[in-house]
Amino acid sequence: MLTLTSAAEITAVSKEAHRASKCVGFVPTMGALHQGHLSLVRTARTQSDVVIASVFVNPKQFGPNEDFTKYPRNAEKDAAMLAAEKTDYLFLPSVEEMYPPGATSWVSEEALSEKLDGRSRPGHFRGVTTVVAKLFNIVQPDLAFFGQKDAAQVAIVKKMVCDLNFDVRIVVCPIVRESDGLAMSSRNAYLNPEQRKQALVLYRSLMRLQMLVDRGETRSTTLLAAGKQVIAEEPTVKLDYLEIVNPETLDQADEIGQGALIAVAAYVGSTRLIDNIVVHGTAAGKTSPRQ
Ligand code: PAF
Repeated sequence: MLTLTSAAEITAVSKEAHRASKCVGFVPTMGALHQGHLSLVRTARTQSDVVIASVFVNPKQFGPNEDFTKYPRNAEKDAAMLAAEKTDYLFLPSVEEMYPPGATSWVSEEALSEKLDGRSRPGHFRGVTTVVAKLFNIVQPDLAFFGQKDAAQVAIVKKMVCDLNFDVRIVVCPIVRESDGLAMSSRNAYLNPEQRKQALVLYRSLMRLQMLVDRGETRSTTLLAAGKQVIAEEPTVKLDYLEIVNPETLDQADEIGQGALIAVAAYVGSTRLIDNIVVHGTAAGKTSPRQ
């Protein structure tokens, strides 16, 4: 694996691959890699000729009181993990490389970005779409791999790609969970052992809703009330949102129809965690396989 820090060099690599009719797969990350990220790389490896991953903790997607400075950084460990998955190139830019002094342009999606995490993290998705647009322009991938855990991010990036005619296909990969169900996240590293146990309430709430949907419940009000009751069983965990939405528009859904996203965000101590499941209601009350 070759590590490159210059945007121009990565663009040259991608252009060369395209000249040779090779498919370029791209996995954008903020580092602090875990099995969730590696599953994206593995999928990219099976679908692409050249795999490029990026590690860049993007300052523009963090709010002033968020964890930008303490976000876990370990470039060497990340590079070793990516190399072990046969990543071809790691793009490891500096903040100055991505945002040279004087850069004043942003990319913003202006409807979905205000929903779910966008409501509690103002400006977050503008930072995400700006950096993802820049990374797409630099890496020029044919395929880009994103994790379903960030379901709102997935919907917004897909919308941006469609609205702005980016020539890239977004491939969404399933959530990877710890053996007890906790969704893998770089921010899990912030949790002490007690909080790590408390954090399981997110998954428990989703599983309760999954069970109710499996039994035929389709009304969002009933489901959300049941989910909130589960979260309340862990009084130290502060619910940010629990919502049932259309996975593409992120609009709230009154009923579980042909595919609804049930998304939860909560603070465990000062750590904000998110998780979600996608359910499909049918007359018989059968749902999609668990993620
Ligand atoms: O999901 C992430 O890790 C980040 O939001 C992304 C897509 C790498 C942009 O900084």
